[in-house]
Amino acid sequence: MTSNTLGVDFFALDSWTEPPGELRERIGATLRERGIAGLTGARGRHDALKVARLLLAELHPHRDSGPDGLTTIRDTGRQGHRMGLAGLGHSDLAVHTESSQLPSPPRLVILVCLQPGRAGGESILVDGRAVLGELAGFRPAALEALSAPRAAYFGGADGLFAPVLEDLPSRRWRVRLRQDELARFSPEAQAQMPALRTAIARHTVSVRLTAGQAILLDNHRFLHGRAAFTGERLLLRALGPAHSALGLEPGFAAPWSAAEGAKDSACPAPAGRTGPAAVKPC
Ligand SMILES: [Fe+2]
Repeated sequence: MTSNTLGVDFFALDSWTEPPGELRERIGATLRERGIAGLTGARGRHDALKVARLLLAELHPHRDSGPDGLTTIRDTGRQGHRMGLAGLGHSDLAVHTESSQLPSPPRLVILVCLQPGRAGGESILVDGRAVLGELAGFRPAALEALSAPRAAYFGGADGLFAPVLEDLPSRRWRVRLRQDELARFSPEAQAQMPALRTAIARHTVSVRLTAGQAILLDNHRFLHGRAAFTGERLLLRALGPAHSALGLEPGFAAPWSAAEGAKDSACPAPAGRTGPAAVKPC
């Protein structure tokens, strides 16, 4: 396993000799802690399917996926300008979570890079846990508005109302976001979008994947997007619920401690949650 400057752990799959159970345990530990992991050595559609079978309970088909359930992400030259299809163009793509219009969006997003393109095309990544921590610490009004049950409406006619930051049982949270025409926000949430975007910008990292590299994202925690690119960029995407052996609990742990002042507190609790409003950095 190697770590890059982003702190993402990359697991090598070149030989595929490690027993699947051990590999799942190692990758699961990283996903549980960080919400993101990387793979190297995925060289084609066959390998992408092997990764999907390794990490997903099932491969969920998508509107744009092929018969095998994988979606080819590339500039088709004719769809990128259409509503909800910007991913199939070459422009930049605002950070989002996948399938935000579903009651239970897929837990894992697997992005396998087969061809990085000539220039640009960096994957833009944002840890929703860090964004939550910043809003809780500095923008409690934003957290209040964005965690309301009807903070946003995602999707078209068959979409749904949902919070952007969802407060789940047991001090766990889930993030859900898109920023294109298929997302509308309540007036209260809309007023807090600048605060949300500022927090997102402060926690944005980018990585230019090379051929054979893959990114695994906890879609209930991490936002992802893309920088504009030129040339032939080709990725394969797999979506689905996480394999049970990865041990992912619902959502992610709040970035503050239940006990005010606890030593492991990474971030102060927001007002009305587990303690008084706090203003310390997290
Ligand atoms: Fe996406």
